[in-house]
Amino acid sequence: MLLELTNVETWYGPIPALRGVSLSVSAGEIVTVLGANGAGKSTLLRTIAGLVDPRVGEIRFEGRAIHGLEPDAVVRAGISLVPEGRQVFPLLSVAQNLEMGAFSRRDKDGIAEDRARVFAMFPRLEERQRQASGLLSGGEQQMLALGRALMTRPKLLMLDEPSLGLSPRLVAEIFAAIRQINETIGMTILVVEQNARVALANAHHGHILELGRVVLSGSTAALSDNPDVREAYLGIREGGIRGQRRWRRRKTWR
Ligand SMILES: Nc1ncnc2c1ncn2[C@@H]1O[C@H](COP(=O)(O)OP(=O)(O)OP(=O)(O)O)[C@@H](O)[C@H]1O
Ligand SMILES: [Mg+2]
Repeated sequence: MLLELTNVETWYGPIPALRGVSLSVSAGEIVTVLGANGAGKSTLLRTIAGLVDPRVGEIRFEGRAIHGLEPDAVVRAGISLVPEGRQVFPLLSVAQNLEMGAFSRRDKDGIAEDRARVFAMFPRLEERQRQASGLLSGGEQQMLALGRALMTRPKLLMLDEPSLGLSPRLVAEIFAAIRQINETIGMTILVVEQNARVALANAHHGHILELGRVVLSGSTAALSDNPDVREAYLGIREGGIRGQRRWRRRKTWR
């Protein structure tokens, strides 16, 4: 396992946001975590990234305990987070934002190769290289945030709701890029999403988070076939008595 969480609890003061989360991510996979607003998706990524400390539990990366490390030490270990809401440096140009991603690297050829890869994936960024990033559209800023994270060449790339606020066409473009990165250079990707349809279509494995707990895990094929997932996350209702199905879901998922 590249990443392994065991019984992780994260609290904000008296409020539990993660209540004993155990999950793992294999090297080379795209893994998605699905959940509604407030389920704890961002907290999960922020806990892995060292931005908040878990109160209980273990986080191991390549076998090494990383819980309690400072965020910069987690980055050096090979984990990169694209937070919710993009967060590019608005006054810096597109090219400068990409350089920021590579600032700790010394391998010039590798950096040039990665920059070329980002521009091949997102030609619009290449066209706007000298433009201040704050002037990019929301979708372009999401591409840039993803590109900047790629420039750090992480072993694990974590994305917090990359589809948020984007048109269906841009969502498809972003997820095509995510797959391409995974397939061409084998980068492991952990992506949290509310958009279950697109996440299940593109990831290998998934975990469903409800109120800080993982209530269901499996291959995305199995999750997509699960009647509870279909009803609650994909909005597909088939057969049975509706009320009964909803009631059964509550009984089995807690
Ligand atoms: N800094 C904070 N202080 C106190 N409570 C917080 C803080 N951040 C998040 N929470 C709470 O923790 C819970 C999980 O929040 P989190 O942001 O992880 O959810 P999420 O699944 O990312 O939701 P969304 O889909 O809306 O982004 C929520 O109940 C939220 O109100
Ligand atoms: Mg969130």
